[in-house]
Amino acid sequence: MADSFLSTIEEIKTLRAQLEGDGGKLVLTNGAFDILHVGHVRYLKEAAALGDRLVVAINSDESVRELKGSGRPINSVFERAEMLRALECVDRVVEFRERRATGVIEAINPHVYTKGGDYTADSLIDEEKDLLDRLGCEIRILSLVPGKSTSSTLSKLSGNEEKRAKIAILGSGKGSNAQAILSAAESGALGGEVAVVMSDVADSGILDIARGFDVPALFVDPGTQKAGQLTDAALKEIGDRLNSYGVDLVVLAGFMRVIREPLLSVFQGRILNLHPSLLPEFPGLNPVAKALDANVRETGCTVHLVDAGIDSGKILRQESLPVYPDDSVESLTARIHEIEHQIYPEVIAGQLAKLV
Ligand code: GAR
Repeated sequence: MADSFLSTIEEIKTLRAQLEGDGGKLVLTNGAFDILHVGHVRYLKEAAALGDRLVVAINSDESVRELKGSGRPINSVFERAEMLRALECVDRVVEFRERRATGVIEAINPHVYTKGGDYTADSLIDEEKDLLDRLGCEIRILSLVPGKSTSSTLSKLSGNEEKRAKIAILGSGKGSNAQAILSAAESGALGGEVAVVMSDVADSGILDIARGFDVPALFVDPGTQKAGQLTDAALKEIGDRLNSYGVDLVVLAGFMRVIREPLLSVFQGRILNLHPSLLPEFPGLNPVAKALDANVRETGCTVHLVDAGIDSGKILRQESLPVYPDDSVESLTARIHEIEHQIYPEVIAGQLAKLV
């Protein structure tokens, strides 16, 4: 029976009364849930955690049509109810026929009413707010799941999605530069997205940082203990991953192994590196210590294209800073980092703008 996934309002009222008797809480939310996506699933899990039973009120087919146009809903009310009921966090689904949920809220009188997606506390209409206040119902607005919405799913399906340039970050260390780049991408300042972060060090900070931004974080086994090297298999794995993530620009941020052919040709002019010295001074390892040993008055950092040499590719940008008599490797590195975090995202944004 197709409609057995839908409960009646009477059944929900009975459930509420039982919960009340047991000191439990009924949580209600509503929406069209036309195409179920991960944004819905995360939001519903969060909603369920606010009480003991979660009831989802879904718009009837006719009210979805009224709200969203004649091509909707994509799935019928029975199919939508069936999908929602298959989720562990959803206890009951009811249908409501009006455009607004006010009637169903009043009838059910939930302990907690929650809204998600693009709602804010202020965007509940006055009528709904007044009613919820009158019922003494707790109102909870749950966070938006970035980039996961019915409209973004539909625009992906229709092929209208804006093409955004994709970058990969490769690093071996802490990942402070990756963090600056990921923040710039998130704020829109990069003009592209970070599709993947890879590291040759399984427990590196850079992978944790990527996970914190919900970006795929992959460990690639370098295949050798030899400093600075990657086996052919490791290089191939990196190339395969870059391919499968559709990467346009490769960004090395503290990656301590040499990228060589055939990857250089595949990404010709599209691999960037950051180095903490004013190249061509102090290429290779320990450039900050080398600068201090050489007693230079100033040093800095360089962003350059990667070629077959060590830190020898075309320079795209350099910034200098003074070296103080009492500087240590640590203090000088910290000041270099500050400039790196500013200039690397800027150079990447410039390169991406040229690619699209
Ligand atoms: C950065 O200072 C970068 O310039 C350097 O590694 C650090 C990575 O720090 N790169 C090189 O030395 C490359 N030869 P992070 O992991 O905190 O971004």
